[in-house]
Amino acid sequence: MAEKNHPNYSPGLEGVVAGLTKISRVDPDKQVLTLRGYDATELADQASFEEVAHLLVVGHLPNKKEKENFTKDLGVGEHLNEDMIALFKAMPKETHPMDALRTGISFLAGSDEDVTNNSHDENIRKAKRLLGATPEIVATSWRVLQGKEPIEARSDLSIAANFLYTCLGEVPDPLTEKLFNASLILYAEHGFNASTFSARVIASTLSDIYGCVTGAVAALKGPLHGGANEEAMKVLLQVKDVKQAEERVLKAIATKEKLMGFGHRVYKNGDSRVPTLKKLGSQYAEAKGDTKWRDIAQVMEDVMVREKGIHPNVDFPSAWIYYQMGIPIPLYTPIFAVARMSGWCAHIIEQHDANRLLRPSCIYEGPEYKSYKGLA
Ligand SMILES: CC(C)(COP(=O)(O)OP(=O)(O)OC[C@H]1O[C@@H](n2cnc3c(N)ncnc32)[C@H](O)[C@@H]1OP(=O)(O)O)[C@@H](O)C(=O)NCCC(=O)NCCS
Repeated sequence: MAEKNHPNYSPGLEGVVAGLTKISRVDPDKQVLTLRGYDATELADQASFEEVAHLLVVGHLPNKKEKENFTKDLGVGEHLNEDMIALFKAMPKETHPMDALRTGISFLAGSDEDVTNNSHDENIRKAKRLLGATPEIVATSWRVLQGKEPIEARSDLSIAANFLYTCLGEVPDPLTEKLFNASLILYAEHGFNASTFSARVIASTLSDIYGCVTGAVAALKGPLHGGANEEAMKVLLQVKDVKQAEERVLKAIATKEKLMGFGHRVYKNGDSRVPTLKKLGSQYAEAKGDTKWRDIAQVMEDVMVREKGIHPNVDFPSAWIYYQMGIPIPLYTPIFAVARMSGWCAHIIEQHDANRLLRPSCIYEGPEYKSYKGLA
């Protein structure tokens, strides 16, 4: 949307086309997200996160053999060594898991012998390493910072099950694993969002993939982006029951408080990922015999839509679903990072494969020319 005095300037780059991509299509009118042509909601319902990561990074859905090889290449349980654990032990106990993840990824770069080689094949090799290492960095740093022993990932478990197992110490039941897997797929990729765009800007300088995803993690942490799922849960927790839900939203509207987990730059009539996540979350809540959070979230959504026409984004259902699964709140944004690592890597590869430095312009609004007079 152009500014009145500056027709070529769009604050927040809203509506600006900043690149071409073959990775995903976000269609706000039809409320559809497709990943390399496949409907993300269909994938979330039926595929594994490993298959979707292969689709994004390698470029097509794998067959059985390709999936097996891809999973092997992720090197489950092989990324954490004593040095990495010592690094987490040296961190202040209050370190947020997203900051630990950022540091862990930087640390990983040092042990890659071919770190600056941005060729297509080398980038795919590094993307697999990052996909395998990210959940292990999150789980291990989380446990070490809590003063707990790290848990080694198991090669017989899926990425979804392993993540919950290595963070929480229990292998999830099939229903929990299925829903968690679906949430990873719905978080995996979403066009030129802020963290992906940050990664592409860094990639466009021909910086290496580790640096690109480190920058992306920093961008994702912000509450206007991935950090919204943690903030949304903190607000949900202020609501004790369904009766208080309407009141809480009305108070936010009256005080012009931004409710995290609502609104979106691209989707103005609803986030394509929300109906599927809500449906699966609702089935889960019913199967577990506790629909409290689903019901509170629904009232808040209804009031927000009725009063402001603002719909929930994917971070709103994710928040209460992860809470119902018993996942600690500081892990919500890192989970987003575990999933989005696949999309980031795909975009970095695409950028490196056909690069042009991303370097926009700005309009100067400061003082006119002044001459230097020396120290008074
Ligand atoms: C995501 C977000 C930054 C997109 O915003 P945007 O396209 O820049 O839209 P704006 O911030 O300009 O908002 C437009 C209007 O809707 C309101 N609005 C947008 N999101 C809102 C929210 N979550 N709660 C309350 N009001 C909201 C704004 O206050 C603004 O109202 P105004 O015109 O009266 O000033 C914004 O919706 C937001 O901050 N949401 C909360 C954070 C979040 O959930 N992020 C995850 C996104 S996936």
